[in-house]
Amino acid sequence: MTLWHGRFAEGPAEALWAYTVSLPFDQALAQDDLVGSRAHVRGLVRGKLLDADEAGAILAALDQVEVELDDGVFDFVPADEDIHTAIERRVTELAGPTGAKLHTGRSRNDQVATALRLWCKRELALVAARVLELQEVLAARADEVGEAYLPGYTHLQQAQPVLLAHHLLAHGWALARDVDRLLDTRRRLDVSPLGAGALAGSSLPLDPHGTASDLGFDRAFENSIDAVSDRDFVAEALFDLALIGVHLSRIGEEVVVWSTEEFGFLRLDDAYATGSSMLPQKKNPDIAELARGKAGRIIGNLTGLLATLKGLPLAYNRDLQEDKEPLFDAVQQISLALVAISGMLATAEFRIDRMQEAADTPTSAAVDLAELLVSNGTPFREAHAVVGDLVRQSLADDGPSLAGLVKAHPSLGPSAAALLEPGVAVTRRTTPGGAGPVPVADQRRRFAERLAADRARLTALV
Ligand code: ARG
Repeated sequence: MTLWHGRFAEGPAEALWAYTVSLPFDQALAQDDLVGSRAHVRGLVRGKLLDADEAGAILAALDQVEVELDDGVFDFVPADEDIHTAIERRVTELAGPTGAKLHTGRSRNDQVATALRLWCKRELALVAARVLELQEVLAARADEVGEAYLPGYTHLQQAQPVLLAHHLLAHGWALARDVDRLLDTRRRLDVSPLGAGALAGSSLPLDPHGTASDLGFDRAFENSIDAVSDRDFVAEALFDLALIGVHLSRIGEEVVVWSTEEFGFLRLDDAYATGSSMLPQKKNPDIAELARGKAGRIIGNLTGLLATLKGLPLAYNRDLQEDKEPLFDAVQQISLALVAISGMLATAEFRIDRMQEAADTPTSAAVDLAELLVSNGTPFREAHAVVGDLVRQSLADDGPSLAGLVKAHPSLGPSAAALLEPGVAVTRRTTPGGAGPVPVADQRRRFAERLAADRARLTALV
C-alpha cells in the first residue's frame, strides 16, 4: 500500500510504478533522511505536536531503521516508492500508530530537498578535500623537480622555456579555484527547506528556524515555494564538478601527449598504466584518457539538469526527481578521477633530460634577443623584425646557425649569443608570476600558503 492510498480507488499500475520509483538510486540519501527526520521529530516536540513518549518511540524506530540499513537487512517492499517513504513505512511498522505522526506538517517536497542539501554539504566538502590532495601532489612534484625546465607551448608549438614546476603549479591554481568554487556553492546552499511543507508552510506550529539550526544549516528558507522548487544548488554543484572534470581532462590530455614516444616527457608508473590485449609492447595512459572522456559525461549531467529545470512551473514537479542521478554520478566520477589522477601524477617519472633537450633549441630564446635590443633602445616592433629575419635565415636549408648570425650582428654580438646557450632563456623570466626560477620560488611559497589556508577552511567544515 502506498503512503497516499486514501485518495485512490485502486492501486498504481505496474507500469506507473516501474517508471516513477526512485528507490534504486535515492538510497544514497538514507542517512540524510534519517538526520532530517530526527530534527523534524524534535521540532514537533517543541511545537507540542508530539509528547516525549511519542517522540522517544519514533526516534527509537529511526535508530532501528539506521541499524537495519547499515547492516544491509532493511527489508524494502514493492510499495516503497523512494527511500523517504521506505523509512517512514518502516518507522510506522516499528512504532505503531505513533509512527504515523512522523510526517506531521512535512511533505516529501521539503523532506527530499532537506536531505539533498545535507548530502551536498557533506559530499562537496569531500570532493574539495580530494581536489586538495591532488594539489598537494602537484606541489610536491613541483618542489621535487626544482629548476628543471621544458618548452612552454602556445598552439602546441614551442614558445618559450618554462620551469616544470611553473607548469605543474598552473594546474594547481586552476584546482585552487575549484576548491573555492565548491566551498562557495556549499555556503550558498546552506539553507534548510524543512518546514516549507508541500509548498506553502503549515497551519501547525512548526519552527523552520529551529529545525534549521538543529540540522546545522546556516539559515532557514525565506519563501516556502522557493524552498521546495529550488535546485539551483544542484546545478551549481554540477557546474563546479563539470569544471573540475574539464581541468582533469586538460591534465589528462597533457599526460597522453607527454607520454608518447614522440614527446617522451613522461613515463607512467606500471601501476597507473594499462597494457594491450594484442600488442605486447604497449603501455597506455588509460586514466588520462578516461579523465578526458568522462568530462564529456559530466558536462552532459550539467546540461541535462539545466534542460530539466528550464520549463518547470513553481513549485515541486516530479521532474525534480531527475536531479539526483546526474549529481550522484558526477560526484562519484569526479571523486574516482581525483584519486586516480593523484596516484598517476605522484608516481609518474618526469623525463627531464628529454624536456630540457626539447627546450634548448636556439629559437626558444628569440624573444630574449628582441628584448635585449629593446633594452638598448630599439623599438620592440623593429627588434621583433630583426630577430625574425635572423631566425628565418637560420631555418633555411643549410642555413647559418642562429648563434653565428647573432654573433655577427652589429647590434647583438657575442654577449647576445650567450642567451642562446642551453638553460639560459628560462632564467630570464624574472617578472612576478613568471616562469623563471626567481618568481617561481615566490610562487611555490604562495601556493603552499594557499593550500594550508584551504586545508584549514576544510577542516573547519568536516
Ligand atoms: N522521490 C521523489 C523525488 O525525489 C519524492 C518526491 C515526491 N513528491 C511528490 N509530491 N510526489 O523527488
